[in-house]
This record gives sequence, structure tokens and C-alpha cells, in this order.
Amino acid sequence: RHHDDHIALVPTMGSLHNGHLSLVNLAREHAERVIVSIFVNPTQFGDGEDFDEYPRTLDRDTRRLKNTPADAIFAPDVDTMYPFGLDMATRVSVPGLTENFCGASRPGHFDGVTTVVCKLFCIVQPDCAIFGEKDFQQLVAIRQMVSDLNFDLKIVGMPIYREEDGLAMSSRNRYLTSDERKAALCIIKSLKRAKALFDTGEREGKKITGEVKSGIEAEPLSRIDYIKICDAGDIQDIDQITQRAVLAVAVNVGKARLIDNV
Ligand code: PAF
Repeated sequence: RHHDDHIALVPTMGSLHNGHLSLVNLAREHAERVIVSIFVNPTQFGDGEDFDEYPRTLDRDTRRLKNTPADAIFAPDVDTMYPFGLDMATRVSVPGLTENFCGASRPGHFDGVTTVVCKLFCIVQPDCAIFGEKDFQQLVAIRQMVSDLNFDLKIVGMPIYREEDGLAMSSRNRYLTSDERKAALCIIKSLKRAKALFDTGEREGKKITGEVKSGIEAEPLSRIDYIKICDAGDIQDIDQITQRAVLAVAVNVGKARLIDNV
């Protein structure tokens, strides 16, 4: 590495799919060196969540990163990241932005995310880091953390990468049976209907979320966690869309908790 090379970090939990590889390609546009971290972070999983089942495929991931090349992979184990145990570890917490949406359904989740991402930034010392917009609340919280803790690095968001039929790519899609995989399409179909409603001029949040709700409820294999519209900046609920806003959903299909947004 030349001393003036820039480093882009792509933080992941592994089980790499094409969405991740698109992040790696984007990273290439921002820096001469690309580092991919692979770490299934225990502090961001709650009791009863899928930490144990979460797919761990390091050999396969390494092979995939030969074709979409990364300069280095950082794949620490839990003891390296949390040598004094999970309960004793210092936490980094971004209040406010992390209470609504997924923060309400998954208490403690975002503290785990910002803690591990902060540690990854300190270890890797990147000039920029790439995150997917599927986890838009995570992206907003990380931007806030970077600003609050005076990290000297740029955060880049990458638009949601979708399967051909529209399902947002996620490592959790592999939990779906083939029937559930078909059922999961109710999410993008309903989001598209909501977007069309918005494009015709509808600005009342309840009308738009109602459209999504009926579309997802019509699919018997799905269970809605939330459907909400919020201000894209501060993640607070809004009733009328008069500013940049995000419509976000979390839906359980079989064992998978799927999130998506427009
Ligand atoms: O989005 C993810 O995969 C994770 O939340 C992250 C950012 C790698 C932190 O563990």
C-alpha cells in the first residue's frame, strides 16, 4: 500500500450476496484500497433472534471477494472484538434516531451496531465506509455517530440492490422456503403501489401506509411488524408528507424478518 492510498471499508456480517458485491464495487470508486470486514456481531442480536443460525460462509465469501476484488478481508472472532466479554464492553449509543422503527422492535440492536461499527472504524481507520440503504435507519444512525464522535471519514449510502423480481437482497432471504419466497414479494408489490399513490399526489401518510397494509395482509404467510412513514433525517413519524420521507416496513415471513423501504 502506498502511504497516500485511501481506504474504503465495507462492513458486513458475511454470507455475501450480490448486494454486498455492489457495495464493494462502489467502494472501489472511492478509494484505491478496499477492505471488507466480515463479523457476525453478537451485540446487535437480541434474545431469541437468529445469532446462532445466522449463516457463516467465510470460505465461500473469500472466494466471492476474489472475483469482485477486495484488497483485504478483516474477519475477527468474537474474542478479538470483545476480549472482556459482551457485558463488560463499552457501548456507543445514538439516542433518538434509534428509538423508532427497528429500534422499537429490536431493543438494543442499534447500540450493538454503532458499537461494532465504531470499533471497526478505529481498527481499520478507513477514509470512507459504504452502507446499504436497505438498512436506512442504521445508515442515519451511523452518520450521526460519525458526526458526534468527530470521525474523519465519509459515509456513502448505496441504493437497495434487488433480485430480478424486486425482493430486496438480504442474507436472511435464505431462511425462506420456496412458498415463502413467493409470498415475500407482497412487500415490494405493496411498496410500489404506495409509491404510485404518492406519485399521483397523495401526501396523507395513513392513506399510503393503508395501501401497503392491505397488500401485505392479503398474503397469509406474512406478518407485519411495522409499516411507517418518517422524516428521512430524524426518523420521527410524520402524518403528512411535506419533506423528504421514507416509507419503511418490517415483515416476518416464515423465520425471516425482512425489511425494505422506498
Ligand atoms: O448491516 C450489517 O450487515 C451490520 O449491521 C453491520 C453494519 C456490518 C454491523 O455489524
